[in-house]
Amino acid sequence: MARIEFPLILINFKTYPEATGERALALSKAIERAWKEVGSGLAIAPQFADLRLISGSVELPIFAQHIDPQPPGAHTGHITAESVKEAGAIGVIINHSEKRMGLSEIDAAIGRARSVGLATLVCADTIPVGAAAAALGPDMVALEPPELIGTGIPVSKAKPEIVRGAVERIRATNPAVVPICGAGISRGEDVKAALELGAEGVILSSGVVKAKDPKGVALEMALAAIGHGGGRRG
Ligand code: G3P
Repeated sequence: MARIEFPLILINFKTYPEATGERALALSKAIERAWKEVGSGLAIAPQFADLRLISGSVELPIFAQHIDPQPPGAHTGHITAESVKEAGAIGVIINHSEKRMGLSEIDAAIGRARSVGLATLVCADTIPVGAAAAALGPDMVALEPPELIGTGIPVSKAKPEIVRGAVERIRATNPAVVPICGAGISRGEDVKAALELGAEGVILSSGVVKAKDPKGVALEMALAAIGHGGGRRG
């Protein structure tokens, strides 16, 4: 079974048409080619409806984009930790800026994910929220300033102080939590800048999903992570 590697380069498919259904499968295979070439921490977060198709076709580590705190049972329309795990996810994004949750829901979702062995990545829009998220004890916290999401302006270059500050606060709050960052990450050099600021990975979307050559961009990012001392562990 795939496992999460650091530095992590997590590519969130969101609901982009370029990352839906058959196109999501093609995109996953392109990213997998880069992953196999370089041996780096590339991972993907496809849409729920595509999870099983993709997990059956590629070996990449797969995250779900969200789970709800509800347990299995009479809860129509909710996404359980169990369902995404069975569909092939090994981790889950919680509280993405585009899918926000309250603090108690985040806490409950972390607990539900942990109960089935899913790795947890909680997103935060500010440094104080990142510290609060770290206090809940997920595996990773990702700082993403919402105003840079989807802009192509990399947080690691436009707001280095936010990344550095988040890394410090997250580590000070809970040293077991891995700090990562995201928003606007589009190039290998953006990944390198993030890692130099102390982040142990990045989460990104449009830079790869909407690229003319997604495999080329994923490869460039993976190589930048390797250059920084990353690569497959063990
Ligand atoms: O989940 C990653 C994300 O919110 C950043 O999006 O398009 O700026 O890489 P993007």
